[in-house]
Amino acid sequence: MAFVKLGKVSDIPEGSGKMYEIKDRWVAVFKVNNELKAVDDICSHAEAYLHDGELENYEIECNAHGARFDIRTGKVCSGPAVTPIDTFPIRIAKGSFEVDI
Ligand code: FES
Repeated sequence: MAFVKLGKVSDIPEGSGKMYEIKDRWVAVFKVNNELKAVDDICSHAEAYLHDGELENYEIECNAHGARFDIRTGKVCSGPAVTPIDTFPIRIAKGSFEVDI
């Protein structure tokens, strides 16, 4: 794994997420309480994108069938998904952020 620079912290509005392609993976980066969290953008249930789901605090709800995941840990909060999603470390320097993938 290695940190990859993706953009500026200000690119992501509070309470929303953005999709990035890194090394052939889709990664969703969310901003909650002014913190950035990076997770796999592909829902573990049936592969819908998560970045445009409904974000409530640290839980993202998949638009397809309503599974919910904790974006801090990747764990499933409610089904139909049963498999956690991957999470990725983020570091911030001089207003930009990098994801370790
Ligand atoms: S694809 Fe996400 S809940 Fe079904």
